[in-house]
Amino acid sequence: MKILVTGGAGFIGSHIVDAILAAGHSAAVLDDLSSGSRENLPAGVPLHVADIADADAVERVVAAERPDAVCHQAAQMSVSRSVREPAFDARVNVIGLVNVLDAAVRHGSKRVVFASSGGVLYGDVTTPAPEDTPANPVSPYGITKWVGERYLEFYAREHGLATVALRYSNVYGPRQNPHGEAGVVAIFCKKFLAGEPARINGDGRYVRDYIYGPDVARANLVALTGDLPQVRSGSLVSLNIGTGHGADVNELEAMIRGAMQDVLAARGKPASLPLPEHGPARAGDLRSNMVDPASAATVLGWRPEVSLTDGLARTAAWFASGG
Ligand SMILES: NC(=O)c1ccc[n+]([C@@H]2O[C@H](COP(=O)([O-])OP(=O)(O)OC[C@H]3O[C@@H](n4cnc5c(N)ncnc54)[C@H](O)[C@@H]3O)[C@@H](O)[C@H]2O)c1
Repeated sequence: MKILVTGGAGFIGSHIVDAILAAGHSAAVLDDLSSGSRENLPAGVPLHVADIADADAVERVVAAERPDAVCHQAAQMSVSRSVREPAFDARVNVIGLVNVLDAAVRHGSKRVVFASSGGVLYGDVTTPAPEDTPANPVSPYGITKWVGERYLEFYAREHGLATVALRYSNVYGPRQNPHGEAGVVAIFCKKFLAGEPARINGDGRYVRDYIYGPDVARANLVALTGDLPQVRSGSLVSLNIGTGHGADVNELEAMIRGAMQDVLAARGKPASLPLPEHGPARAGDLRSNMVDPASAATVLGWRPEVSLTDGLARTAAWFASGG
């Protein structure tokens, strides 16, 4: 199969490209490189530098590639920017998605997989949320993920696409951008490598469900290419992609610090990394968010494979190697 990955030069998208190639399929990427990078992609993968909000540019790329399936990862993904600039957010996340869906339909793609978000749809939940938890998005970014799923439903019904929305929990791993606001694992890894303490907002008792990027990529691969009875023309399937387990920021910081100390010691540079500092709480941060991945096991046969301990060790090693 040939698969077009929008946002494929980014963190999650580039792991999806790796998974597509490893499974023997072919991949092409559409990305404006606003946060992604060419270096994230293996040699030989066609990269079309284009903005999804530009309908003509999307049309040109999809017409040239004529993919069997489209994996839509490109997005404006800063919650705070979505609050400051809701029109920009909607332009990329809503109009951009519509442009991609229109072009996919015009050029004969059969399946579209969309990066949705459990964190912003379910809000504060103290037990892992199943997919039928009422959506309660509070930011423009969250609203665009909810609206995005409605557009998938519409294009499926109207044009016969088979569509899947994967609602990720908090994704971490190699290649995550440490300059964003959400990648706490990447941010802490960079701090430790600079010999600085991690800075924890408020009391740090903010529980999240951390899922390893390559595990998320595997879920995308199955959703894009699997022979799945519930993924069929005319329908949308929404599935949580997470572990169902939570860790708070205090626990996470201690685990990353331990992982980084082990990595540095193994490289002959033993270091006792500084204990964290606590700053003010960030307004609007959810206290607890976890997703229940049981449906993904049923529909995709997918389960997370990499434990938080192993995933943090691999991520620390990647950042320590110059990531
Ligand atoms: N990282 C997480 O924890 C998380 C959680 C839930 C959902 N998501 C979703 O997963 C997807 C991928 O996120 P990521 O963490 O890999 O972020 P990322 O920033 O690494 O990847 C996004 C990619 O999209 C590209 N892009 C942005 N705007 C574009 C535009 N207008 N036109 C073309 N390309 C554009 C960027 O250059 C980048 O390569 C996003 O849709 C995001 O909303 C991520």
